[in-house]
Amino acid sequence: MNPADHTNDIIRLNFNENCYGCSPLVREGIERVLLKELHLYPGAPVRLENELARRFGLSVDQVIAGAGSVRLIDGLIQTLVDETGELLIFENSFVAYEQLAQAHSKKYRLIRQRDFICEPLSILHSLKPETRLAFLANPNNPTGTIISHDQLEQLLVQLPSSVYLALDEAYVEYVTDPAYPDALSLLNRFPNLIILRSFSKMYGLAALRIGYALADATLCRAMKKKQIPFSINRVAEEAALLALEDQLFVDYCKKENEAGRNYLLKELGDAGFHPLPSQGNFIYLHFDQRDDASHAAKALAGRGILVSELSGSGPQGALRIGVGDQPVNSRVVECLQHFHLP
Ligand SMILES: Cc1ncc(COP(=O)(O)O)c(C=O)c1O
Repeated sequence: MNPADHTNDIIRLNFNENCYGCSPLVREGIERVLLKELHLYPGAPVRLENELARRFGLSVDQVIAGAGSVRLIDGLIQTLVDETGELLIFENSFVAYEQLAQAHSKKYRLIRQRDFICEPLSILHSLKPETRLAFLANPNNPTGTIISHDQLEQLLVQLPSSVYLALDEAYVEYVTDPAYPDALSLLNRFPNLIILRSFSKMYGLAALRIGYALADATLCRAMKKKQIPFSINRVAEEAALLALEDQLFVDYCKKENEAGRNYLLKELGDAGFHPLPSQGNFIYLHFDQRDDASHAAKALAGRGILVSELSGSGPQGALRIGVGDQPVNSRVVECLQHFHLP
C-alpha cells in the first residue's frame, strides 16, 4: 500500500478510524451481498458468532455479536443495572458509557483517574452495595493508556461476583505492549468478566456497525433476549467474516500504526508537548493551560486536520489525535512544531 496524497483532503483524525480503510478482501467480498441480497432480511448472526467462538476456543453461547460495540454497551447497561443498581465509569474515558447510562436513566458514579490511568484498584475502592457494573476501556480512549495482565487479574480476584466488569478492548489489535492482559484466558475463571471488541477500529468497518462481546453464557443469553431483531445487517456480518480472514491487512496496519505512533510521540515530545504513551491508534496530548488545546486544534483545523478536543481530567485541555499514515503524521508534527502559545 502506498501512502495517499492528502494535499487537499480534510483529514479526519478525530474518530480513531483506520486510516488505511478496510481489507481489500472485504471490499471485493461484500459485492455479492450488496448486489444480490439487499432485499433479504438478515438472520441472527450465527455464522459470525460461530466463527468467533472457534477462533477464541469458546462455546458459541459465550459470544454475542452486536450492531457496534456501543450497542453491546447499551445491552449490558439494560441487562445488568436495575432501578436500584448503579454503574461505575472512569472520568476521561469513552463518552458512550456516560451517554448510555444517562439515556437509560441509570445511576452512575465517575471514578477519578490517577495520572491519566484508569487504576483498577480505584474500582474496588469505589464499590457500594448497589454497584452492578463497571466499565474499563483498555487501551483507554482517549488517553491510550493500558492496565497490565497482573492488574486485571488482581482486580478480578477482589471484585465481588455480583459486580460485572466490562473490559472494553476496542483497540486490542493495535496493542504492542507485552504486559497487556490476555483477558480471554481469564474468562472462564471469572463469570463476571465481559470482553467487548469492535470491528470499527483495526478492521475498518465503522460504517457498518458491528462488534462483539465474549462473556458468560448465561449473561449472553440474557442479552440476546433483549436484542432488537434484524439489528445486525447482512453486509456487516459478511464483512466481519471476511475481515477476520485477512491477517496480512491487520499485521500491516498494526506495524504502520506503531511506527506512526512512535514518530508522533517522539517528535511532539521533542517539540515540548506532553504526549502520553499510547497503545491505541491515537495519542493524547495534554496541555498546561486550558486555552492551549483549543488553539492547537484550530491551528490543525487550519491545515485541514480534524482532531478531538477534550476537557481532559482537570482544568487543562487535551487533544486526542489519531495516528495517520506517514504524510499525515508529518503534517501534524510540522503544524504543531510551528504552533506558538498565544
Ligand atoms: C473504547 C471504545 N469502545 C467502543 C467504541 C465504539 O465501537 P463501535 O464502533 O464498535 O460501537 C469506541 C469508539 O470510539 C471506543 O473508543
